[in-house]
Amino acid sequence: MARNYAKSRKPRETFDVRIEKMVQGGESMVRLPDGRVCFVKGALPGERCRVEITLSKKDFARGVAVEIIEPSPDRAEPRCPLYGRCGGCSLQHLKSEKQAEYLERVERENFRRLARTDLPDSFCIRTGNPWGYRNRARVVAVKDRAGDREIVRFGFREQESNRIAFFRECPVLTPALNAFLQGPAREIFTDKGTCFPREIDVNIFDDGAGNVSYCYAGMKASAFAECAQSVVDIGGEKIASDASVFFQSNLGLLPELVQAVRDAVDEGIASGDASDEWLIDLFSGVGFFACMLKDRFRRITTVERDEGCLKHAKANLSAVGMSGARGTSVENVAAPAEQWLMDNVVDVPATLIVDPPRTGLPKEVLEAIAASSVNRLIYVSCDPVTLARDYAKLALSGFTIKSARGFAFYPQTPHLEMLLVVGR
Ligand SMILES: C[S@@+](CC[C@H](N)C(=O)[O-])C[C@H]1O[C@@H](n2cnc3c(N)ncnc32)[C@H](O)[C@@H]1O
Repeated sequence: MARNYAKSRKPRETFDVRIEKMVQGGESMVRLPDGRVCFVKGALPGERCRVEITLSKKDFARGVAVEIIEPSPDRAEPRCPLYGRCGGCSLQHLKSEKQAEYLERVERENFRRLARTDLPDSFCIRTGNPWGYRNRARVVAVKDRAGDREIVRFGFREQESNRIAFFRECPVLTPALNAFLQGPAREIFTDKGTCFPREIDVNIFDDGAGNVSYCYAGMKASAFAECAQSVVDIGGEKIASDASVFFQSNLGLLPELVQAVRDAVDEGIASGDASDEWLIDLFSGVGFFACMLKDRFRRITTVERDEGCLKHAKANLSAVGMSGARGTSVENVAAPAEQWLMDNVVDVPATLIVDPPRTGLPKEVLEAIAASSVNRLIYVSCDPVTLARDYAKLALSGFTIKSARGFAFYPQTPHLEMLLVVGR
């Protein structure tokens, strides 16, 4: 007699609920009958749905919407077959044209909750292409066999697991990246020249003109020099980079962010709150913002801890001193921003731009800014939560919000790019 060895899963608790609101991270929130807050995946505000509890703690719970009983008019059919698995685009159940509106509400609440302040009425989110926008990604190449042939498949690492979600086409990657993965990359990674164990992480980068560069750990220096380099043209400004270092991942919307940063810099100089004597670009990557602003300053300092960025920053800014009639001096430093600020006293009202990773500003950076003569800070952020927390600390040393803008750099995901200008 056949026996079923499958472990029977203990049935999970479910509730029929009406969703209250969306919170940070794209989940929605509801109160369970016992008063606990529950964060729900896959549901939208106003929807009535059946929620299955996946984590139950004393004071909160997590769950997933397993049945939508009364759908929101803003609900959309997720476009990607990996929705819910890959973990990358968890907001696909919300219509693309509604995502900015929802994220704006979430960010306003974040600032109220974490910084006890209101974002200005003028705060709004600029949007671009909802699909096919992402020009930079890390994928996993996995060796496989089809009959007696070796083939390679590409996927994303699933969040919080070791599994790989394989895809044929990712709807948020640019057409050039999808074409690369479906064509040349298959040849490259089955080629005997690219030796790797069963799987390897590969960084891919589309320069915005359809040229794809790539790199992976252990790549030979000669192959890196040939295949990893890129040059991005932003409004006639050519920025050199390579696939191993940070670069902005939404080139379609990037010019709007650049313009907003330029406007913020010009306003600061015109008002006298900041000077055109010295631009300090902290967390500068390959010197991106400094390049976009180089014609405005007499002295430029870029600070970035990744050594790989340094040679690009130097090259990208090398012509400045020579071309500028103003005799601009440039210094590119490879150091942690906190270390540089501890070693260098900023006792003039320099123009300061910070663009830290998701973790936000280290506490030493916040302390040094508070103690410096900087009266105006231009903060570019890819995580509004750490931005709100950092702003709360800056407010203690007299900074208030001058302006705030959002940029939908990551449609179909709950992530947002923000520009916050603060002054004192
Ligand atoms: C969001 S990226 C911004 C890069 C650049 N502003 C751009 O637009 O391309 C953040 C950069 O900060 C760098 N970084 C992270 N922690 C750092 C630290 N403590 N000090 C200096 N740089 C850091 C990373 O290597 C990365 O290049």
